[in-house]
Amino acid sequence: MNSTSSKTTLGLNLPTDPRWVDLASLSLQDILTDHAFCEQKAASSIISIIQMHSDKPEIVEALAPVVTEEWGHFRMVLAELKKRGLTLGIQRPDEYIKKLMKGKPKGQGRDQLFLDQLLICALIEARSCERFRLLSRKLTDQELQEFYHKFMVAEAAHYKLFLKLAKHYFEDQIVMDRWQYWLDYEAEFLPTLQVRGDRMH
Ligand SMILES: [Fe+2]
Ligand SMILES: [Fe+2]
Repeated sequence: MNSTSSKTTLGLNLPTDPRWVDLASLSLQDILTDHAFCEQKAASSIISIIQMHSDKPEIVEALAPVVTEEWGHFRMVLAELKKRGLTLGIQRPDEYIKKLMKGKPKGQGRDQLFLDQLLICALIEARSCERFRLLSRKLTDQELQEFYHKFMVAEAAHYKLFLKLAKHYFEDQIVMDRWQYWLDYEAEFLPTLQVRGDRMH
């Protein structure tokens, strides 16, 4: 894998397959439904991090407002569906997240697990941001361009926040080595997933 020449602006090792955004533009209800559940999962996983690390004041303080924000994103997607006369469909299996979770070694210690939790969140935010950027640039509907632009900006801030939190608790070199592991791991499995227009990832 050539991981240097294809780096995206977000530092991801592999840009999204260009076919994805064309397919996504053809299945708006499905992509909005999947997007809504991505926001719900973001809120849920941040709540879990707060529960598991309630003894870390910086985590609680920094992440409590992000839960509200992610749930706000869920509601923004619901509103967009409603505006377009569409409804929230059922939640589909998320192959991207499943593969990502397989990258976590079994039997990790509490610190290692904590670092991975933060970096996995950072990675999902970065990949989501990259995809919102594609949607905001390639969709022809101007309202949708603006809609996705807002998400792109918000998720970019979350990506930076998770990396900043990781560096607050761990040495820079440890964080960057582990971040590289996750970037490489994601770039390896991403091409094995089917390119589908009804999934955000
Ligand atoms: Fe979000
Ligand atoms: Fe986010």
